[in-house]
Amino acid sequence: MHFLLPVVVFFLLLLSLAGATGAASPFPVDHDFYPFYPSLIKWERSKAPFTEPSVCAGCHPQQFEEWRGSVHALAFTDPIYQGELNKGFKAVGHEVTRQCEGCHSPAGMVTGEIKGPGLKGLGPVALAGVSCDICHSISGVTHQRTPTGEPENGSFILSPGVDTKSGYQLVKRGPSKPVDGCGGGFHECRESPLHDRSELCAGCHQVYHYQDHFPLEATYNEWKHGPYAQKGIQCQDCHMVETATFIRTADTMKRPERSEYRHYFSGANYLLYFLAGEAAKKAGDRELAASLDKKYQMALEKLKAAADLEILPVYRSSALAEIKVRVRNLRAGHNLPTSLTNVRELWLEVTARDATGAVVLSSGGFEGPGMLEPDTRMFNSEGMGSDFHLAIDPWVVTAFSRHDTIPPRGYKDAYFAVGPIKKQGTVTVEARLKYRPASQQVARKILKEVPEDISLENVYGASPMTAVPIVDMAVKQAGFESRRGK
Ligand code: HEC
Ligand code: HEC
Ligand code: HEC
Ligand code: HEC
Ligand code: HEC
Repeated sequence: MHFLLPVVVFFLLLLSLAGATGAASPFPVDHDFYPFYPSLIKWERSKAPFTEPSVCAGCHPQQFEEWRGSVHALAFTDPIYQGELNKGFKAVGHEVTRQCEGCHSPAGMVTGEIKGPGLKGLGPVALAGVSCDICHSISGVTHQRTPTGEPENGSFILSPGVDTKSGYQLVKRGPSKPVDGCGGGFHECRESPLHDRSELCAGCHQVYHYQDHFPLEATYNEWKHGPYAQKGIQCQDCHMVETATFIRTADTMKRPERSEYRHYFSGANYLLYFLAGEAAKKAGDRELAASLDKKYQMALEKLKAAADLEILPVYRSSALAEIKVRVRNLRAGHNLPTSLTNVRELWLEVTARDATGAVVLSSGGFEGPGMLEPDTRMFNSEGMGSDFHLAIDPWVVTAFSRHDTIPPRGYKDAYFAVGPIKKQGTVTVEARLKYRPASQQVARKILKEVPEDISLENVYGASPMTAVPIVDMAVKQAGFESRRGK
């Protein structure tokens, strides 16, 4: 039967070729080591269950009140997340969107409780998103063993407890040496230096494409390669403290005292706090609404403390030709903006008037409801798929066509041409640095996809048409002579 031999050899050759291309992958995946791939979470499984936050609250009421209503507490129920997840679920299926759940509700993913978009039928642990028992069960990280050798897609180990002869023992980890009676008989305590460092946050704050491992969000790397990391200032030092403490820390480069840490995790997402606040009011939970209002204010304070502006004139042949606006990243520990840079919008609105009040320069205004002028100077990025086409969805974006964010303690300059001046004299300029979490078009697309069991209208009093609110991060005025004197 040796006429079959060439066929067999051919197939063996094909197989070995396939093996060879697999082995040559620039980002090899160890599927045994990472059983939840594309999420890189590891779960040290035991009889010890995950605990819901309301149980921790019994003995740690202050931490609970601070965490409740935080972006971490909302990470899974967030309607914007659920809308995008639903889009992803339809496009690439649950095998891939497990990656999302790994960061937005790790316990719900590893236990297999979450099976797709929506909230129906889920228990309190899954709904609690990034809850107490996620962070305080993290026993280690695998940042160096990931396909890229960098922190990505949840590269940490969850160990809620250990098996014992009589059942199990819960173990919770924190930054301090355990005090006597630590855990109150409910849990054991372990000292964990990791909890005092940015590496605890890194696995979730580095979002990489599920297959091509392209860094869609790289907040940790931006921080690590910047001046705050060099001085030992960690994520916790700006995001787990009151606003005044964050500003002091950023300005003095000195870490806060242990007693100053809080569980707010306040960032920039004022829109989510606003939506959740409306939901709490509708549900009649005034305490939660008040806590969300505080977090909403903190997000605005963070944004307003993050940057400043400087306006300078550019003369050519003694005539005012251009206005230069310098945008400084004063206090963000990473690039400004960071994370979802292809969705967030940060831009300059600049207006100048001559001595008669006539407009001689205008940029960054609106040409329709929520629609920015096409040549607006943006500081963010544009994602694209493998074909040079603009893309937003994280399962499609594998490159940036433009990435123009401002590094920590760095700045970027923008130039604006001044038009013909009718009457010489003082030209007055106003520059505003503006921010919104997403453009009107993107917000509309995502909110249209919110799963049916979350009623935007009933729960949040919102609709896909709701205007995305805009924040002025910095405002500056200046006046310059239209002709340079001697
Ligand atoms: C995103 C991760 C994260 C989440 C979620 C989280 N913690 Fe923490 N927690 C930390 C970190 C980091 C510290 C250490 C802060 C520091 O450096 O002192 C900490 C500290 C603590 C401490 C020590 C005392 C203190 O306040 O500094 C307790 C107790 C605690 N957390 C309980 C909780 C409880 C209860 C919840 C849920 C209601 C919770 N944590 C949610 C990360 C988290
Ligand atoms: C490695 C962890 C990680 C993975 C994986 C991940 N996310 Fe996220 N996601 C984050 C973090 C961190 C943020 C917050 C970024 C910010 O606020 O700028 C975020 C923010 C978002 C937001 C914006 C929410 C808002 O209120 O503005 C959406 C939408 C979202 N993620 C959807 C997804 C989807 C869909 C997937 C899967 C395809 C996914 N995420 C996978 C960590 C992750
Ligand atoms: C029966 C009461 C009780 C419950 C329930 C409880 N704890 Fe504790 N926990 C304590 C006590 C007491 C300490 C000692 C120090 C303190 O009071 O903060 C402690 C300490 C801690 C520490 C160590 C803080 C440090 O200084 O490093 C962490 C972290 C922690 N708990 C997390 C949790 C989490 C997460 C939960 C829910 C899964 C939880 N605890 C539930 C009583 C409890
Ligand atoms: C298990 C994954 C996970 C860990 C660990 C984690 N985060 Fe997050 N974090 C998220 C996700 C997911 C979001 C976005 C949720 C959303 O917008 O729906 C987020 C949001 C945030 C935000 C709010 C961003 C905004 O736009 O307002 C801040 C700030 C933040 N995290 C800081 C931290 C810090 C500091 C640590 C470490 C102490 C940490 N995170 C650890 C998953 C995580
Ligand atoms: C020196 C203070 C400082 C440090 C350190 C710092 N941040 Fe921030 N962070 C800020 C400020 C200010 C903002 C608001 C401006 C912005 O959006 O960048 C912010 C915003 C964010 C956002 C929301 C971005 C958005 O536009 O939606 C996330 C997520 C975040 N930080 C995570 C982290 C993580 C993770 C680390 C550690 C690797 C970290 N931060 C370290 C100050 C800091």
